[in-house]
Amino acid sequence: MCGIVGYIGNRPAMPFLLEGLRRLEYRGYDSAGVARLTSAGLAVTKAAGKVAELAALLPAETQETLGIAHTRWATHGAPSEVNAHPHLDCGGKIAVVHNGIIENFQHLKRRLEDEGHRFRSETDTEVLAHLIEKHYRENLGEAVRLALQDVRGAYAVAVVVADQPNLIVAARRGSPLVMGVGLHEHFVASDIGAILPFTKDIVYLNDGELVRISREGFRAMTLDNIWVEKPVEHLAHEADKYEKGQWPHYMLKEMHEQPEVVRRAAMGRVLADDAMVRFGGLNLTMSELRAKRRVVIIGCGSASYAGMVGKYLFEEFAGIPTDVVAASEFRYKRIHVEDDALVLVVSQSGETADTLAALRELKRKGLKVYGISNVLASSIARETDGGIFINAGPEIGVASTKAFLGQLTVLTLLAFLMGRLREMSVADGRDVLRQLGQLPTIIDDILARRAELAPAVALLKDAPSAFYLGRKMTYPIALEGALKLKEIAYIHAEAYPAGEMKHGPIALLTGTFPCVVLAPKDSVREKTLSNVQEIRARSAKIIAIGTQGDAELAALSDVFFPIPEIHEMLLPLVTLIPMQMLAYETAVAKGYDVDKPRNLAKSVTVE
Ligand code: F6R
Repeated sequence: MCGIVGYIGNRPAMPFLLEGLRRLEYRGYDSAGVARLTSAGLAVTKAAGKVAELAALLPAETQETLGIAHTRWATHGAPSEVNAHPHLDCGGKIAVVHNGIIENFQHLKRRLEDEGHRFRSETDTEVLAHLIEKHYRENLGEAVRLALQDVRGAYAVAVVVADQPNLIVAARRGSPLVMGVGLHEHFVASDIGAILPFTKDIVYLNDGELVRISREGFRAMTLDNIWVEKPVEHLAHEADKYEKGQWPHYMLKEMHEQPEVVRRAAMGRVLADDAMVRFGGLNLTMSELRAKRRVVIIGCGSASYAGMVGKYLFEEFAGIPTDVVAASEFRYKRIHVEDDALVLVVSQSGETADTLAALRELKRKGLKVYGISNVLASSIARETDGGIFINAGPEIGVASTKAFLGQLTVLTLLAFLMGRLREMSVADGRDVLRQLGQLPTIIDDILARRAELAPAVALLKDAPSAFYLGRKMTYPIALEGALKLKEIAYIHAEAYPAGEMKHGPIALLTGTFPCVVLAPKDSVREKTLSNVQEIRARSAKIIAIGTQGDAELAALSDVFFPIPEIHEMLLPLVTLIPMQMLAYETAVAKGYDVDKPRNLAKSVTVE
């Protein structure tokens, strides 16, 4: 949801600014802009579209050694050149890039207009440029600090002023911001991934901090005007995680990292001999967990589908009633959460605005809330009472793959633990854990069979619509499969519990309509097979994911993709993989940019 970068040093700023923006494009890519400080003042270049469009407008070589830049995911105002950042004050002397949302911008804009400020764009960010102009008395740091006192909402900002060629001021509240330290040079960015190719020495800014950065050094303070010491951390081994390497897309690379994601999610947590699981960061004792009578899971998009898998697992294998609520609904409804409920918020980024708002409301009500997140320093990870870290490594592909699998893995382990604390026997527990240990190899083997999906891709590629069907444990995986197809292949796809199809959707079935059916050997396979028969009777196309050797299902299907037999508890983790591959292959066959699907951004930090 927007990415910002800034450079001050002794070499030309533009190579870092453009490369940094490219590396942040997963955060937004509908327009981009840059401001560099020339001897004649600020030179601002903006473009609608991706960073490549911006790069094409810039002179081949620029010598300026100070600049800030931005890649945008539009919230206030269309993705046009005029709405692209940086935004300037009336005099064109102050330039601002911003990631976040200024909630009271309309009120501030009216006030500033009454005071004579002239606005050019429809964005919330532009008020910042004018507010800073209003407070500016040759001390940019203080002007930014005072301006931010008036602002409600979330921000990471970088600001430059034309008459101070050795200064960038940056600040954050609610949106991420990091700094890189080089030799007589400094970098700022929304994410370390933009900085690591240039320096491994990183400073993490905390919420509510502001930093004045020159070529020679930096000084940080709180927005309440108290100086703070910031340690520089040397991240020697992080850089590779952000590289695409030999893979054509981050999404494919991240899908192939999934065997390792399962290993890492289980590492240090599984006690094989006792068939138990331990979560250090959850801050709940075994007896506290045992005393939970209900589970409530809150998340958005894929994270809420992970929650739905969790619901089936908690109810089937631990006997605990579970509610799953989309965070965007949860935050505005009457809340019935009992004191003995285990409340979980699930968020890969840990920054999703709706999930964060639901968490804060639950905390206001005095409830303890536990998080499942992939970013340790994220707002959700910091504000929860305890949590489970997914440990999947950075996910750059916009459509979630490995982080979703990581969410599923830790929810499976948690449901397993709750089951073991209740009725599940040690023998059953050992069996599940033994099969869990085989998952990395199973996932690897399935990933190696991508080419087998070519006939399925042929059925899906030109279809305007598709159905995804599953039952129980695999129904949320059908939802996730349909979401992936919508997100990256732009094909309308709807998921149903397989038995629901005959209650209406079946009216759409004709000779070419593709139905992706998840029918592995589980407690409901027979029932799903009846639904497959119903589809077949309407001559629609069937792409089936089933258990190896299931000749009956294979005979009913146009395409049959076999997976190994596995414990029902682990089925979501295995059936997910062909869903991801199918969406990926279809999107590639259609020639789409799978890592940056239209209209999407990686973390949705606005409501
Ligand atoms: C789908 C996807 C989104 C996210 C959702 C929540 O591919 O990525 O649906 O799952 O925006 O994001 P997090 O998990 O960061 O809260």
